Amino acid sequence: MNQEDIVQAAAILKRGGLVAFPTETVYGLGADAANPAAVKRLYAVKQRPVAHPVIVHLGDALQMSHWAQTVPTAARKLAAAFWPGPLTLILQRAAHVNDAVTGGQGTVGLRVPAHPVARALLTAFGGGIAAPSANRFGRLSATAAEHVREEFGADIDFVLDAGRCDVGIESTIVDVSSGQPALLRPGQLLGSEIERVLGMPLAAPGITAPRTPGTLAVHYAPATPLKLVPATALGDELTKLLNSDRRVAVLALDILPLKSAQLVWLTAPVAAADYAHDLYANLRWLDRACCDVILVERPPASPEWTAVTDRLRRAAG
Ligand code: TXA
Ligand code: MG
Repeated sequence: MNQEDIVQAAAILKRGGLVAFPTETVYGLGADAANPAAVKRLYAVKQRPVAHPVIVHLGDALQMSHWAQTVPTAARKLAAAFWPGPLTLILQRAAHVNDAVTGGQGTVGLRVPAHPVARALLTAFGGGIAAPSANRFGRLSATAAEHVREEFGADIDFVLDAGRCDVGIESTIVDVSSGQPALLRPGQLLGSEIERVLGMPLAAPGITAPRTPGTLAVHYAPATPLKLVPATALGDELTKLLNSDRRVAVLALDILPLKSAQLVWLTAPVAAADYAHDLYANLRWLDRACCDVILVERPPASPEWTAVTDRLRRAAG
């Protein structure tokens, strides 16, 4: 990939086309956020229900005031501390923002990504790029260009390929649209780091919080049924399934305890950040192993595992 690809991708966005691009979290599927027809096509290709808002990606934090009605102090502080980076802020929307982008809600999600290719694309394009994760609705996010191609084939116009994403799981989402900032989706950037910058505790999302489909009970899911199992119960669960002649795929922190033709075993990295980096690629791989079930060893309970455990819970439904 070179500057010519970036220029071509920006031109496709300007014409209302769909471009997949890498961010430091996961690949996004982008459309011109100011073009309702382009965003409509984005929803259709993603098979995403229209009431579910998408994040608008920006080249810099100064553009926040174009998309948000007001930029509260909390938003300024968080943008200054963490942008460009894996953080999405939910703000009251400016009047001109498309219903297609906001899902008809009064808020808009904004993020300035750190990935150099995303930044180059945003600079070349100039405007806001509406981009959900580059996967069909409810499915595993894409952390490599080949996952995007598998997912969408010729339904999209261009894929900017920059290899694997560093973080591997989606951005942390913080709602700053009302007086009390709330954590809507955990990510690599921890709640505690956000609280330190804000100087106040984050609320859990209340019933008045904006809807986030990433917080639906079933999301980020492989096609094979997935079960999250405590480490201490993994052996028994495995024996039970193998004895009843099931084919089992396992994602564990430990090494293979027994050999069986019915067993596919993947040992994941023991550091949370490395585990997250590999998570979706690992689940895609296990999903292709034609097993009856995917067993995942539940990660430790400490804060750095919160986002990974959240994604695994949703994958389990
Ligand atoms: O890391 C990420 O956030 C990636 C990369 C591509 O930026 N994007 C991503 O997009 O994960 P998506 O659409 O898969 O998830 C975005 C989440 C959804 O749960 C959506 O509901 C929420 O952000 N969201 C977007 N705009 C919102 C709004 N105005 N109010 C509430 N939630 C919003
Ligand atoms: Mg998504």
